Amino acid sequence: MNHKKIIIAIDGYSSSGKSTMARRLASEIGYRYIDSGAMYRAVTLFAMRHGMIGADHTVDTARLAGALADITIDFLPCGATQHTLLNGEDVEAEIRSMEVSENVSPIAAVPEVRHALTGQQRRMGSERGIVMDGRDIGTTVFPDAELKIFVTASAETRARRRYDELCAKGTPAPYDEVLENVRNRDHIDETRAESPLRKAADAIVLDNSHMTPAEQDSWMMEQYRKTVG
Ligand code: DC
Repeated sequence: MNHKKIIIAIDGYSSSGKSTMARRLASEIGYRYIDSGAMYRAVTLFAMRHGMIGADHTVDTARLAGALADITIDFLPCGATQHTLLNGEDVEAEIRSMEVSENVSPIAAVPEVRHALTGQQRRMGSERGIVMDGRDIGTTVFPDAELKIFVTASAETRARRRYDELCAKGTPAPYDEVLENVRNRDHIDETRAESPLRKAADAIVLDNSHMTPAEQDSWMMEQYRKTVG
């Protein structure tokens, strides 16, 4: 049976596992997957490389706003995943570093950055058939998404997941530092003036602290099936 194509918005806290869930659902149902956090990370890397972020994480907003037109972000399918391209360069590994993680929240709080990326994200979803994850997808980018999911887990669970990820990549960081980064980002993401992280009124909440990846996958499929009927 051919279902109508919908938009699936998956928002939630950092390292809540939402990207993995979103990517797997997209692949299962033949939708395009977009990791909007990767786009904020790519802009952050650009700003870091061009000396637009001070040691205290203050952003040279005027310069960054002026440079936004020079930033192109694309995704390159790569096996079961995809790589982020910044002006054609594969920056997938670099945007996941602790340095980028430490600078990304102040960059994501810049209204000009949000406007530029929101516009690009809406264009990506103009034909629907997309799963996008982030912080403001169900509230700001696609308030009309047919299925909205808000993923949450305790800060400790999420820091442990991030810590394991960094170790697996061969770039370990002390657990306490990772936990502090997770908490700091939660705070900045929730309290920023522009599109703060919050659950859309019509989003379904999933606390996956105690769920296996397989349980999360089947829960997601169930929500999708219920939505498309
Ligand atoms: O999901 P992530 O940890 O890769 O996201 C990186 C940062 O980008 C995070 O601190 C919040 C920000 N972000 C955002 O503000 N809006 C989005 N739609 C996605 C991410």
